[in-house]
Amino acid sequence: MDTSVFTTVESEVRSYSRGWPTVFVQAKGSVQTAEDGKEYLDFFAGAGALNYGHNHPKVQQAVADYLTTDAPVHSMDMMTPAKREFLETFRDLILEPRGLDYKVMFPGPTGTNTVEAALKLARKVTGRQHILSFTNAFHGMTLGALSVTGNSMKRKGAGIPLTNSSKIPYDDYFGGATEDFLWLERVLDDSGSGVDKPAAIIVETVQGEGGVNAARLEWLKALADLCKKHEILMIVDDVQAGCGRTGTFFSFEEAGFTPDIVCLSKSISGFGQPMALTLFRPELDVWEPGEHNGTFRGNNLAFVAATTSLKEFWTDDSFQKGQLAENIEVLRGGLEQIAGAVEGATVRGRGMFGGLHFPDLEVAGKVAAECFAQGLLVETSGPDDEVLKFLAPLNTPKEQLQRGLGIVAQAISTVTGTEVTYRPEGAKLAGAA
Ligand SMILES: Cc1ncc(COP(=O)(O)O)c(C=O)c1O
Repeated sequence: MDTSVFTTVESEVRSYSRGWPTVFVQAKGSVQTAEDGKEYLDFFAGAGALNYGHNHPKVQQAVADYLTTDAPVHSMDMMTPAKREFLETFRDLILEPRGLDYKVMFPGPTGTNTVEAALKLARKVTGRQHILSFTNAFHGMTLGALSVTGNSMKRKGAGIPLTNSSKIPYDDYFGGATEDFLWLERVLDDSGSGVDKPAAIIVETVQGEGGVNAARLEWLKALADLCKKHEILMIVDDVQAGCGRTGTFFSFEEAGFTPDIVCLSKSISGFGQPMALTLFRPELDVWEPGEHNGTFRGNNLAFVAATTSLKEFWTDDSFQKGQLAENIEVLRGGLEQIAGAVEGATVRGRGMFGGLHFPDLEVAGKVAAECFAQGLLVETSGPDDEVLKFLAPLNTPKEQLQRGLGIVAQAISTVTGTEVTYRPEGAKLAGAA
């Protein structure tokens, strides 16, 4: 397998190709095949951009059909039938059934684009500059998104001071030793605190890059209440946790609050086609025409793919309550069983957003490498890459999900020398039928 051009021509900045040094030639569902014929189960799924797997047949067909019609592929923010159908479908299948009255903005095609748009809008609406975000947050790589990101290596990459934002502790940052929002409530109530009132607080309901930390639903609700009380806008960055990943379309649905602004990207097209949305309450729609723009806001292949994906998976609750719910049980039951066999290991995340944390910071990276050797793609996250992160497609066949968990158990045994076995039939979650 010739990989020389990647190491001689491509920049040193490349990263995934270092951990997974092979050339992928085929991708279908939850499996990728390399040039040497080796198959890999894909529990990485484009870092959460492929929630319905690679090349879903119906989505692929819709995109292929569209390509042969000479309908516009690129359209800036002009009107096209593909965009019309997407907006109608998103309204009818996602927003209205959930009672969400949001305007839809196309901010540019990536996660960091929607975060930038959300921050700009919050500042414009409130006339305030400061933004609060959380320890271990990750919101993207452009300067605004970096300013609300925690990771010191990524922040340093900015090369300039990242200003107008402060970090506050995420849920359980002090291991339960400090009351939630103790500091925040106090400084917001105290006109002498010296802390400028923020325009917005931006939060991930499950922190993906920061170590698969899932906030408790009651913590999220309390945060929403606090924001409301102090007229601070609440932005939920659902770029990674949205589109079904936690078990519902939006990750905040079960927490009983409605964010002011929501960022979506990654799996919204359901096909790995770049696309992002910024959703906000209609009263917040204070943009001047063209005040925020971008060349690639009108990716019609993404619109077609998104419409088809939404119709396939979210027309009713049969996917959510059926295959998705079953897979969540298989994944979480399996992770619990595996963690139970490794001293100090804990399960993280929510729904199909899974994590395994190991007290020995070296273990997760070594296990990920061993998984690759055994034919499984799984990445690490967390400030020290100490968490094994699971983002298998939501519709992964049960047998593949169980096979992947078996590989993880075997890889942990190899790396730690502790015998870890995964028995699918014994991996029921406590309380599950
Ligand atoms: C929560 C969250 N926000 C924003 C981003 C940035 O998305 P993108 O890489 O598409 O710019 C990511 C990427 O992983 C993310 O996880």
